[in-house]
Amino acid sequence: MIQQKGSFFLLETDGTTYCFRVTEQGFLQHLYYGKRLSLGADLAALVPQGGLWPGDSSGWRRGGPAICLEDTALEVSAPGLGDLREPFAVVRTAAGDTLTDFRFESAEILAEKPPLEGLPSSLGGDAQTLRVTLTERRAGLRLELCYTAFDSCDVITRSARLVNLGGQPVTVLRLMSNQVDFYGQDYIMTTFNGAWGREFEPTRTPCGPGGVTGGSRTGTSSSKANPFVMLHSQAASEVQGHCYGFHLLYSGSHYECACGNAYGKLRFLQGIQPEGFSWRLEAGESFTAPEAAMTWGWGFSAMSRNLHRFIRAHVLRGWWRDRPRPVLINSWESFYFKFNQEGLLRLARQGKELGAELFVLDDGWFGKRDADNCSLGDWTTVNAKKLPGGLRDLADRIRDLGLDFGLWVEPEMVSEDSDLFRAHPDWILGRMEQAIGRNQLILDMGRPEIQNHLIETLTQVFEEARPAYVKWDMNRILTDTWSAALPPDRQGEACHRYVLGLYRVLEELCARFPKILFECCAGGGNRTDLGMLCYMPQVWLSDNTDALCRCRMQYYASFGYPQCVWGAHVSASPNHQTLRTAPLESRFHVAAMGLLGYELDLGALSEEERAAIAAQIAFYKEHRQTLQYGQLFRLRDGTDGFWQMMASDGKNALVLLFQPENRANAPALRLTARGLRPEAVYRLTTRPCGFQTEESEDILSTGSVLMDWGVWLKQGFSGVGREPQTRMMGDSGSRLYLLEETSSDKNC
Ligand code: DGJ
Repeated sequence: MIQQKGSFFLLETDGTTYCFRVTEQGFLQHLYYGKRLSLGADLAALVPQGGLWPGDSSGWRRGGPAICLEDTALEVSAPGLGDLREPFAVVRTAAGDTLTDFRFESAEILAEKPPLEGLPSSLGGDAQTLRVTLTERRAGLRLELCYTAFDSCDVITRSARLVNLGGQPVTVLRLMSNQVDFYGQDYIMTTFNGAWGREFEPTRTPCGPGGVTGGSRTGTSSSKANPFVMLHSQAASEVQGHCYGFHLLYSGSHYECACGNAYGKLRFLQGIQPEGFSWRLEAGESFTAPEAAMTWGWGFSAMSRNLHRFIRAHVLRGWWRDRPRPVLINSWESFYFKFNQEGLLRLARQGKELGAELFVLDDGWFGKRDADNCSLGDWTTVNAKKLPGGLRDLADRIRDLGLDFGLWVEPEMVSEDSDLFRAHPDWILGRMEQAIGRNQLILDMGRPEIQNHLIETLTQVFEEARPAYVKWDMNRILTDTWSAALPPDRQGEACHRYVLGLYRVLEELCARFPKILFECCAGGGNRTDLGMLCYMPQVWLSDNTDALCRCRMQYYASFGYPQCVWGAHVSASPNHQTLRTAPLESRFHVAAMGLLGYELDLGALSEEERAAIAAQIAFYKEHRQTLQYGQLFRLRDGTDGFWQMMASDGKNALVLLFQPENRANAPALRLTARGLRPEAVYRLTTRPCGFQTEESEDILSTGSVLMDWGVWLKQGFSGVGREPQTRMMGDSGSRLYLLEETSSDKNC
């Protein structure tokens, strides 16, 4: 719900309040963001009392009570007005300076959320949008800020659009998507960093005077710095503390910063990475920044729940949004590049026998691709040596087995050794002399002729093979970001134009093939972001399939993303990325906390292992709704321990216990749960599988005991002695427990 009350703007969601006002001089002063307040009629109590400005600062007197912008919380900021923190907008005007003075012009409340030009954005539904317009008179600029309040998710989104109304071109040097000025600096900024194979490693940095900056420079949202970040109180935990979560709906280089000033304020900014960016705006043109989303929750759990709800209801869309996602078998870690039709069909047949629903043909099916050094770009030429009957023939045979067919592509890339490159050497981004990644060059996605080529080529491939699923890969970072299509003074646009071009291709392909389930992959998790999720309802979180690493990664990813967006596969042991061995059941339990797939040579397994997989898939299908779409609780702070997926009717849940390392003589374990009905009685049992007999738990307890105290699990092996009931669980060991509401209360 959004209201304008005089010069105040009040955005209220079910659990949060966001408030700002127009000062007498026409600046937008931020007043409050956080837990919902019961505000009386007079909002003036939220306004800090001013009048003087501190020390050597400078301010504004004309037009009302004096205001010093260095010490004022603002909705937007620009250089040259006395605010010394990092700015929201920097524009080089025709006069050559970057001094801009945006003042309030008008505001309106819209019943429908306007779409963002050329960019993906959240679906507004019945959410209201506030559009505030500011003007910069000297340079002739208009800045529009949009705020949408998603009441039941407790999420507010923001976007910004700059219009050049003057007669001269200007250059946008930065236009952020979000700015939130906090009254206080006592926060931790947690970013999720990492690299290939170790996505989502959290970094906690205390804020203070000075700046904490982060973001990516890879041209992608990047595994090195995810565009989801948090600001929270120092002692925040799952259940307490102020926790703010910020997302950017963008898939290119991005920027986050939390900079404190000398007067106890802290500015959070998020938007397109300004380093290397510039955008020339001719008279009459506009530039739109990507949408940003934010939430507040008391405790990480509440914060995540808001974001999960928002992503599921307003970011994901299309045919697959709420549908059960298929259990797949993927050829990559099964065969890498070394396969033939017979081997693929054998794998598919075995997968089908075990219960898989979708067969995914990964890299290596086109051109003469037997290694990663050729053929990217030659999508319409099937590798005849491997697939003599062509793609359609293979796809039909897979479908005849009763499986859906899925296909891997990496459309944004081109190999030097490819027909596409030989025909269009000038289509690459960057010059020929450039750093090379995975032996491949990048197509200049900003160019319409390249976008059109990809749309038509992929349409041909998809019409031929009729895949039910497409894995869209992208395996290198952008380096020499120079575009042959742009004049020298527009080279700063190349990276953003690349992303806009990618979005145009995806928009068109999703419209042409609305029932294809697209999975976003970028060398694993290089593009886990809400921009891609607007087109593709799932992402390949990481190439690292080791159960221990995945458990950590999924744990941290869950702070910002729901489990229904990440693919998670059972792969071989020892693991191909870490050489670690892990029990088959643990590999399954961790993968079951996401969209389950198998990525190993099923033919190399024993009969027992195959039988175990058949049982796993059957179990997963039985509980798929809860595992994919249930409410997720992280039951302990830290990654060793318990996760819970709760069915939407609240009547049953699955709890994962994962033990990274078995410590000798470790204390007994007590399992606590969340989200249960206190007075209801639940039965806790162990998911039956090969490794335990008498160890299996069978405990009856009330929701109150389970939540407020917990139930003791059988003793784990601790180095001495062993009884039939001892839980024998080593490194990367795990158990999956079922919690089911039962009407019986005997024994409680
Ligand atoms: C990187 C992906 O992340 C892998 O899953 C696989 O598809 C390879 N590319 C294929 O080249």
